[in-house]
Amino acid sequence: MSATTASPRSTSPADTRPGTSPGPGTAADAGAFPADFAALAAADPEIAGVLVGESARQSETLQLIAAENFTSPAVLAALGSPLTNKYAEGYPGARHHGGCEIVDLAERIAVERARALFGAEHANVQPHSGSSAVLAAYAALLRPGDTVLALSLPHGGHLTHGSPANFSGRWFDFAGYGVDAATGLLDLDEVRALARERHPKALVCGSIAYPRHIDYAAFRDIADETGAYLIADVAHPAGLIAGGAAPSPVPYADVVCATTHKVLRGPRGGMILCGARLAERIDRAVFPFSQGGAQMNSVAAKAVAFREAATDAFRGYARRTVANARALAAALADQGLTLATGGTDTHLIVADTAPLGLDAGTARGRLAAAGIVLDTCALACPDGTARRTGIRLGSAAVTTQGMGGAEMARIAELIGAALRGDAAVRPRTAALVGGFPPYPGRN
Ligand SMILES: Cc1ncc(COP(=O)(O)O)c(C=O)c1O
Repeated sequence: MSATTASPRSTSPADTRPGTSPGPGTAADAGAFPADFAALAAADPEIAGVLVGESARQSETLQLIAAENFTSPAVLAALGSPLTNKYAEGYPGARHHGGCEIVDLAERIAVERARALFGAEHANVQPHSGSSAVLAAYAALLRPGDTVLALSLPHGGHLTHGSPANFSGRWFDFAGYGVDAATGLLDLDEVRALARERHPKALVCGSIAYPRHIDYAAFRDIADETGAYLIADVAHPAGLIAGGAAPSPVPYADVVCATTHKVLRGPRGGMILCGARLAERIDRAVFPFSQGGAQMNSVAAKAVAFREAATDAFRGYARRTVANARALAAALADQGLTLATGGTDTHLIVADTAPLGLDAGTARGRLAAAGIVLDTCALACPDGTARRTGIRLGSAAVTTQGMGGAEMARIAELIGAALRGDAAVRPRTAALVGGFPPYPGRN
């Protein structure tokens, strides 16, 4: 197994830069994907066509979903490798299967890189997703029925933070804190009062939509005062933390859960960081408690992403991602949208479409027709309920594509025009993204 170079975009297998509708894929498409696309196209034209179509969609429309990014060709190559064939239950040196000596290297490298990148004593890189990481954190620290405090879902909590539709809400007694309805900022006084009242076993901080930095020291203080574990779910800002563009929860939280996709720009997956004291409990909570065999192709791809994230190039990327989000947020405000918290510190923007007389569903539909892809989200109301006039967008993917301040201004104009009902935005979107292919040199 040879290590790849660290530059996120230094290797660029030829891309067909598909401008066509989904088709079966031909020999000409062979360079489009790091794995053997020609073999796929020959064996399964139907699925090859899906790959071509999705690649075209990603290239030809504007990707503003805050949780998405474009992984490097090196990450894609590790994902599409024969490591997917290997069963590897357990941990390096202690597997339930034979023949793990090579893939053990991948996991050891991934763990060491994760520890170094985040300055953590221990890393578990096996969680299949962010949700799996959170499940394992709860499994390590809690018993069914324990009380847990987390940001309530209407205010930006994740499903794993106590949704009744999720294991978390079913198995634990969640109490939700909120954001201040006027400022949109976390109300730490409310968190402290609720913690004093409920004496939770764990306090969770982290969100799917909070655009500001989280004060981990303050959460640590509340956890210490009330005897709770502190779990930081940094699924969203993990890449900014790795790149030095957001504060790290590692010195404060007992357990840190993250995704490796999103800003971190690795493969879809999860990871957990903790101190040496909890290392064994966390490892057992991942395997054998909540997962089976590790996905070694994904573990190797995480290792590649951690190496990329340790470079100066990635630190620059993280800084530009935040600068782009700030520029885009300011320009969206000029278009008449109201920004939650008045702006952003991160890659993430939440905006209210109500001033334009639109609900979020209508807004998303108009934007989709304009080739602009983003999410809707709930916005907190003063009475604790949520209204559905929020859109959530992020700058991680467009920054990877190489866009900067001028393009953020252009994107805001396109969004404003589409929201106001201009039906001719799509070609303008295509012209913009056409100048920034996600995989340069592939066509
Ligand atoms: C805060 C938070 N936690 C957990 C998750 C779950 O990640 P996954 O979709 O990989 O399960 C997300 C995903 O968006 C998230 O934002």
